[in-house]
Amino acid sequence: MENPRIYSECDKIQKNRISSIIEEFSEDLMNICGKCMDIGCGPGNITKDFLLPSLDSNAQIIGTDISENMVKYANKTFGDKKRLQFKILDIETKNLPKEYISEFDHIFSFQTLQWCKNIRQAFENIYQMLKPNATMLVYVIASHDIFEILKLLEQDTRFAQYIPNSMKNISPYQESKNARKELRELLQNVGFTVHHCSLREAIYSDEKPMLQQFLDSLICLLTFIEDMPYDLMKEFKNILSYEYMRRRFYYKSMHNDKELVLDQCKVLIYNNCIKISHYKIRRLYIYTLNSSNPFKYILNNNLQREKATDVFDEFEEYLKCISGKCLDISCGLGDITKDMILPTLDPNALVIDKKIIIYIKTCTDVSKNMIDYANKKYSVPKKLEYKKNVINKKIFYGASSKFQVDPDEASCNEGSNLSVSLDPLPQFAEQRRLAGSSKFSGGQICILWT
Ligand SMILES: C[S@@+](CC[C@H](N)C(=O)[O-])C[C@H]1O[C@@H](n2cnc3c(N)ncnc32)[C@H](O)[C@@H]1O
Repeated sequence: MENPRIYSECDKIQKNRISSIIEEFSEDLMNICGKCMDIGCGPGNITKDFLLPSLDSNAQIIGTDISENMVKYANKTFGDKKRLQFKILDIETKNLPKEYISEFDHIFSFQTLQWCKNIRQAFENIYQMLKPNATMLVYVIASHDIFEILKLLEQDTRFAQYIPNSMKNISPYQESKNARKELRELLQNVGFTVHHCSLREAIYSDEKPMLQQFLDSLICLLTFIEDMPYDLMKEFKNILSYEYMRRRFYYKSMHNDKELVLDQCKVLIYNNCIKISHYKIRRLYIYTLNSSNPFKYILNNNLQREKATDVFDEFEEYLKCISGKCLDISCGLGDITKDMILPTLDPNALVIDKKIIIYIKTCTDVSKNMIDYANKKYSVPKKLEYKKNVINKKIFYGASSKFQVDPDEASCNEGSNLSVSLDPLPQFAEQRRLAGSSKFSGGQICILWT
């Protein structure tokens, strides 16, 4: 039997992932009202504490879950007649209850659809339950070590007999080489319009006991282990825990020397409630080389190129609509701008008198090397040029709390359709914000749309 109380007490990692996605889409979510469904709501705590408060106060949610136990607990603990109820529903059913068809203004599903064996059926059902032009936000774990380990345990004849077919071969994107493309195609086939579909890495680090708790939250969903003899169940749990922990990355915290453990997974996010006119931010933590020597940098920037590929892949749909004057702040030696940004934009829009102007922002002496290299190697006549743009030293070193805006940047940001920044320094974030770009975070890759 699933244990809703254990799940809700041990789901710190799950909450962390969902709160960041809710924050990212908060401006879209606050306009959502009407009838909503949260599929795979589990014990209901995330639906009640995270989702409901992020929506318009007129929104109502029906949380649904395949587990009777979860639904009972959720109704008892969080149900309220006005805005929140919980009902049983297997999202893979072939007999969707009639009362749900074309009933919902918005459907959510967080960290659930990876448990489906037939994810197509799940999306077909979601499509049927939505009203015309209704919207959906789903967060699917594309791959996680846990699913690899469960597949390994399935091969063990001692355990195999207890694992029901419905729990075998789950996590449809675990082995996928291009999960984003597969999901996008599936959604389009089912009938959805795809505005935003991304594949991201979600990382979380904490002390070991927290990661043990995360394991407990997952184990309490594996109800089949209760059918095993006690010793076998214990062994199953031990192997699961050992295999999970041995795949982790352990490191010392810089602040207090405590040992921390890292959990990573890939997640798929689909959202069709974003309007292209809204700005969006995409963040990826990268460890950027602090090098001002373009020759050294080009030999060592594979990580940056790999991360940038993910971002441009995610924003493909938006980028191809971008035309006119664009700005790439801190282009470095220009290879990513030339090889990755330029080919993704609308090619017809780059007419003779409209240039993509790439400004580099770093110390003058440093930038000269980079700019010379970039212009020599990557400039494209009438389309792409590199210019030095001197940054205020105070800002560069973050020594002053009073940031000053370089007037050149303020003017070149004006009227710019796209700002791309692959910028490692948090100090730049504030400077760019003051320069007219509304929202940035430093130490991350950010793409901002205005
Ligand atoms: C990991 S929990 C997610 C709970 C919560 N949404 C969160 O983000 O933490 C996954 C939930 O999906 C439910 N679930 C699994 N398969 C399902 C299906 N076919 N239909 C509906 N719910 C399902 C499980 O019972 C479980 O409560």
